[in-house]
Amino acid sequence: MAISHDISISRRGLLAGGAISVATVAVSDSAAATQESGRPANGPPTARVSFEVNGSAHELELDTRTTLLDALREHLRLTGTKKGCDHGQCGACTVIADGRRINSCLSLAVQHDGDKITTIEGLGLPGKLHPMQEAFVVHDGYQCGYCTPGQICSAVAVLDEIEAGIPSHVTTDLNEPPKVTRGELRERMSGNICRCGAYSNIIDAITDVAGAKA
Ligand code: FES
Ligand code: FES
Repeated sequence: MAISHDISISRRGLLAGGAISVATVAVSDSAAATQESGRPANGPPTARVSFEVNGSAHELELDTRTTLLDALREHLRLTGTKKGCDHGQCGACTVIADGRRINSCLSLAVQHDGDKITTIEGLGLPGKLHPMQEAFVVHDGYQCGYCTPGQICSAVAVLDEIEAGIPSHVTTDLNEPPKVTRGELRERMSGNICRCGAYSNIIDAITDVAGAKA
């Protein structure tokens, strides 16, 4: 009996010891592999991203999971672009990437290597506002100011989209270039939520700029 008890303990010990050795080898192998790949041994994978933001070149070493929004706000300190829902539903984080408006909370920074990004800070400055910023002020197109940077970036890109002949869901005649109508503007701006209801003033502001452009 005593012998079989001893054997059973040592068999268990042997199994446990074996498992620990296998785990140790696996961990050290993976650590070596991680170090060989150039990543920090215990850190997340990172990548170098180069892009132009508001006319200035930037190069960042980022966790590959970093969104463009966080890269702008947390790494470049461009806090004009706001984080509202962080789920692609409010439009507060809208920026212009290579001429197209995007929700920067839904886009990884690494996807924008080599891109030209424009944020609200790149459109105009106090004392030298972009015409769309000026129109928002004139028409009282904002109240809380939280959604306004995204609204303005979107509005600028919307007029470019219409000018480029890109149709929307409400464009009725696809053989004709779309026109700047209130219906077109409402549809195209529908991804930008304003909780205080400045919508009609926002449409007035965009229509004003479109008139000035035409
Ligand atoms: S923060 Fe990106 S859409 Fe709301
Ligand atoms: S102006 Fe920002 S929610 Fe209305």
